[in-house]
Amino acid sequence: MTTAQVLEPGQKTADSRAAETEQRMTDDERFSMIISIMGATGGLIAVRDERIPEDVAMSAGYTPGVPRLGVPALRSSDASMGITNPGYRPDDPGATALPASIVVGSSFNPDLARDGGVLLGREARIRGFNIMLAGGINLARDPRNGRNFEYYSEDPLLTAVLGAEAVSGIQSQGVISTLKHYSLNCNETNRHWLDAIIDPSAHRESDLLAFQIAIERSEPGAIMSGYNKINGEYAGGNRHLLNEVLKGAWGYKGWVMSDWGATPSWEFALAGLDQESGVQADAVFWKAEPFTDPLRKAYAEGRFPKERLSDMVRRILRSLYAVGADSWGPAPEVDMEAHNEIALKTARQGIVLLKNDGILPLATARPLKIAVIGGYAQLGVPSGTGSGAVLPVGGYAGIVKIGGPGPLGRARNLYLFPSSPLEELKRLLPSAEIEFDPGQTPAEAVLLARRSDVVIVFGIRVEGEGFDIADLSLPWGQDAVIEAVASANPNTVVVLETGNPVAMPWLDKVKAVIQAWYPGQAGGQAIAEVLTGAVNPSGRLPITFPADLARTPRPDLPGLGTPWGTPTAIRYDEGAEVGYRWFAKTGNTPLFPFGHGLSYTTFAYSDLAVDGGETITARFTVKNTGEREGADVPQVYLTEAADERRMRLLGFQRVLLGPGERRQVTIEADPRLLARFDGENGRWRIAEGRHRVAVARSATDPVLTGDTRLSTRLFGS
Ligand code: BGC
Repeated sequence: MTTAQVLEPGQKTADSRAAETEQRMTDDERFSMIISIMGATGGLIAVRDERIPEDVAMSAGYTPGVPRLGVPALRSSDASMGITNPGYRPDDPGATALPASIVVGSSFNPDLARDGGVLLGREARIRGFNIMLAGGINLARDPRNGRNFEYYSEDPLLTAVLGAEAVSGIQSQGVISTLKHYSLNCNETNRHWLDAIIDPSAHRESDLLAFQIAIERSEPGAIMSGYNKINGEYAGGNRHLLNEVLKGAWGYKGWVMSDWGATPSWEFALAGLDQESGVQADAVFWKAEPFTDPLRKAYAEGRFPKERLSDMVRRILRSLYAVGADSWGPAPEVDMEAHNEIALKTARQGIVLLKNDGILPLATARPLKIAVIGGYAQLGVPSGTGSGAVLPVGGYAGIVKIGGPGPLGRARNLYLFPSSPLEELKRLLPSAEIEFDPGQTPAEAVLLARRSDVVIVFGIRVEGEGFDIADLSLPWGQDAVIEAVASANPNTVVVLETGNPVAMPWLDKVKAVIQAWYPGQAGGQAIAEVLTGAVNPSGRLPITFPADLARTPRPDLPGLGTPWGTPTAIRYDEGAEVGYRWFAKTGNTPLFPFGHGLSYTTFAYSDLAVDGGETITARFTVKNTGEREGADVPQVYLTEAADERRMRLLGFQRVLLGPGERRQVTIEADPRLLARFDGENGRWRIAEGRHRVAVARSATDPVLTGDTRLSTRLFGS
């Protein structure tokens, strides 16, 4: 926990300091703190707002400080994958563009999440940003969600562990981080008008559990609410989720900020919202800035209590003090080379080898003729699009304007980071003959494929904020190119650079498939290293790849294709049975399961011991049984609870082992993962009886199983 305070004698707590400062404020000062003003991008907000001083650089948010009380201005920037800048600061020299969060998810490596967080904190500090709008931890419930690349996984535990490490890393640098988007902002379709419907107890066992665990572990200074409604109430005005669950049951002490343009009413302040963000966006969408004039009016007329206004301000101050954002010393040194190494290491560990019929790693003993096809691989690697897109140092290798309907259409671009897989392959394989074909048409691509020993074909897809993808296919005829190339040359390897699962109609025809996601500024290098074996792949899928949408909880996505502004309800009737849990429940076989990922070595598991009591502890041994060093990610699942079939990831560990090396792994389950949430009592309940666990290579590949009996108990909140 980064923000837990160790107090010197006589030192005040963040709470008491916040109370003292707030008490000395005027009402004008209080009101000035509960809004944040958006910088001009030239897009939605065309002109600089006069409330932002001339010498303040543009970014997602600005809130004036109160200098006479030593309160700094709040300056916030996106997001989880780097300090974003497109539009806001044309002169910004560029920031480290980390791999997408789903790559961190695939690494199953909390240390990488933390390193990335520290990096973000430092690069934020040198720009004067004291709030990072990072920590996107929505669960990947739907493989069409355009923002899944900004999130970690479909599993609450994996998501919470990684999200918490990222937030802790950021906050260790004196920069506040959010966790967002609270909650159930799991689709982008009509997100301002989207009502996400879910059973409240199932919500507690899934998306809310991810927030609960991540909050406990990292104490984020702020929580950003989502755009959507949950069970009929907007996230930012959802009394149950904000006042009762977050601040009540969980005792959260930081502040809740809205998403940008997600506050239609001042009354959200009564329901638990502490700060209105991007006020001008509210003026565009809802024709008012509710926390300025309307809230002041309600206050003057006695409809909005003073105590609540003070509470909103105290919460903001408390986070500033707890994280140390008010007491910065000199800005830290930023070593961009070292930051590139973090981006590279994350990509190396997050790339997933999905299929390998012995073709990889590429043989280097003889000079191969290699065809590299498609995906702009001669230029770089794609990034996801939207508010999280980062401009890397030196600029993009290319921008392809994509566009689309609705207000976010103009911000939808294919951004290419200049780490070219083609050039990196040439560097690693100097004696190979490597040629490139853009993959424009099947007929043309086949010409090169036919005269090559090996074909590496890239499949890319632009995904991002404001858009759900309509189906799982690759755009621009890429599936047809892959199909044709694989028919022309059996030695075909596919590298996918997407933010979500992909349908693979050509899967049986190709020898290997690599899921590289959006691998960040060093992604081309990492891809080439995995292909050649310089790096032994160790990524595992953090999201189930369905064979098709018919096997997912929502074969048809409500509202998809309706014009911006159409009220839409999505029923998340799968409840807590998200992703692999759904496939286990329905007995469907996925194309590739959650947790799956191949290596160039092999691992064996043995000696499982399962202990019960308050929770379940599993101990087992992992051994590298192959010829080369590699990292494995054994996973422990609950498969039965009190004789009822139920899949829950209880824990995982990334283990790096040399050939022949073995290590004992101990996983202790968070008891909430063994329990069901009892809505009537507002507590967690473990059922009496036999509980079975499996040590597995993936959600569908159990290797060892063991049981223990647990007694019934009611606990927590
Ligand atoms: C996004 C947030 C982001 C905010 C500020 C919104 O559109 O949903 O994730 O932090 O913009 O840029």
